[in-house]
Amino acid sequence: MEFNIKSGDLTKQKTPCLILGVFEKRKLSEPAAIIDEASGGHLSEVLRKGDLDGETGRTLMLYDVPGIGSERVLLVGCGKRKELDRRSYRKALAATATLLDNGRTTAALCTLPDLVPEGMNPYRTVRDAVTTYVEKVYRYDRTKGEKKPPKFPLTRVDFWVSSKQGTKAAEQAIRHGAAIAGGVALARDLGNLPGNLCTPSYLADTAVALGSDHSKLQVKILEEADMDKLGMGALLSVSRGSRQPAKLILMEYRGGKEGAKPIVLVGKGLTFDAGGISIKPAADMDEMKFDMCGAASVFGTMKAALELELPINLVGVVPASENLPDGDANKPGDIVISMSGQTIEILNTDAEGRLILCDALTYCERYDPAVVIDMATLTGACVVALGKHPSGLFTQNEKLAGEILAAGEGAGDRSWRMPLWDDYQEELDSNFADMANIGSRWGGAITAACFLSRYTKKYPWAHLDIAGIAWLSGKEKGATGRPVPLLTELLLGRSGQLE
Ligand code: BES
Ligand code: MN
Ligand code: ZN
Repeated sequence: MEFNIKSGDLTKQKTPCLILGVFEKRKLSEPAAIIDEASGGHLSEVLRKGDLDGETGRTLMLYDVPGIGSERVLLVGCGKRKELDRRSYRKALAATATLLDNGRTTAALCTLPDLVPEGMNPYRTVRDAVTTYVEKVYRYDRTKGEKKPPKFPLTRVDFWVSSKQGTKAAEQAIRHGAAIAGGVALARDLGNLPGNLCTPSYLADTAVALGSDHSKLQVKILEEADMDKLGMGALLSVSRGSRQPAKLILMEYRGGKEGAKPIVLVGKGLTFDAGGISIKPAADMDEMKFDMCGAASVFGTMKAALELELPINLVGVVPASENLPDGDANKPGDIVISMSGQTIEILNTDAEGRLILCDALTYCERYDPAVVIDMATLTGACVVALGKHPSGLFTQNEKLAGEILAAGEGAGDRSWRMPLWDDYQEELDSNFADMANIGSRWGGAITAACFLSRYTKKYPWAHLDIAGIAWLSGKEKGATGRPVPLLTELLLGRSGQLE
């Protein structure tokens, strides 16, 4: 989709469809009032008939509005003027996107960013508009025999801003928004692809393809034999139960100064998690194809960083494996030796994410990282604790916690901090190894993070449990592409591009 900024006389703008906001109760937004006046009160007259009240997300298409340059006018409800916030703003945008994508028009001029909801600025409103439009017209059809693309897809949206001063911020917002949206789309594609196609090798090929497109990105794939040499006994133990070979995917982007410490993003890449010998119940097990969404967020964020050519050094690390029951799979009680030398008693083979992550996190030490952030669909317990809106943030680094929380707020892709106190650590005690791979019934997201913390002592580190946010279930089933927006926001901040 293509985006542009327009300013100047709204009544003269030529477009197939002009999008205007209407507040409850039938109150015209400022741009709508301009059009109302030019049309001799046409909009007021229509609203008086009562077909649109202004309720958020309700729409009304008008034709032949007199006295203006646009062919159609799409009125969209934005709720109460005083209550316009980011949530209702996004809802109104989404309603227009869906309607236009399924309709006859392929281009539109949208005035909604000019309404600047509570707590937002022109940069934020335009960026949200770009990401929302792309998100709403996203379609997954890779594995559909019959592909049914819309006859007249929405391919171009212009945004009208009332003041010329706002245009510079708005142009920047389009650039950033389009890059984030592209990264989100890649993460969604990878997440939605089924486990029989999206294997560890497929993820490795995806990384290699990304690397061949960009001269500043170097991609290395470690094979099982390489991992064996490094002593990655925890990671390899998970993959032993699978016929697909595990891969450790390394993507090294050098956009920053020579020698500047890299930001390292690590993503859990379980391309299918059946639980192993501690097998999961059958219901909804298909959703465990999404167990590589942490990895997908690393790919998506890397793609966004490449497109924006961010002046940073960034490394993506993706341990990729399947977790299946097999004669050679991990058994409860088995003890493995991690790359760090610490031994692990595997009391539940379904707690496999931490086993592949711990070796990947030890490997990260060789990058002498400025910071390591890992993303993982790690625990059902995190979804029980926080529901499906924020990711769970775990770190003992106060400054980093603040930075990540702020990036989530900024991007509208929030996380919520969870405790990582030493009080929980003793739950991992084992009579036979240095630690067990599970704690008690309680606080499962926290004991999982405690496990990872034992492998991340040599650098600043944070963990995002994304089990609740990486995909939607039910009728809307599909990957969300989160937390690519949060991560890209963080990288933009570190590159000094948000001042
Ligand atoms: N990938 C799952 C976590 C998960 C389950 C995310 C369901 C979203 C929905 C992870 O590998 C897992 O199985 N975790 C176990 C840990 C337990 C055995 C300590 C879990 O959450 O039940
Ligand atoms: Mn599992
Ligand atoms: Zn898993």
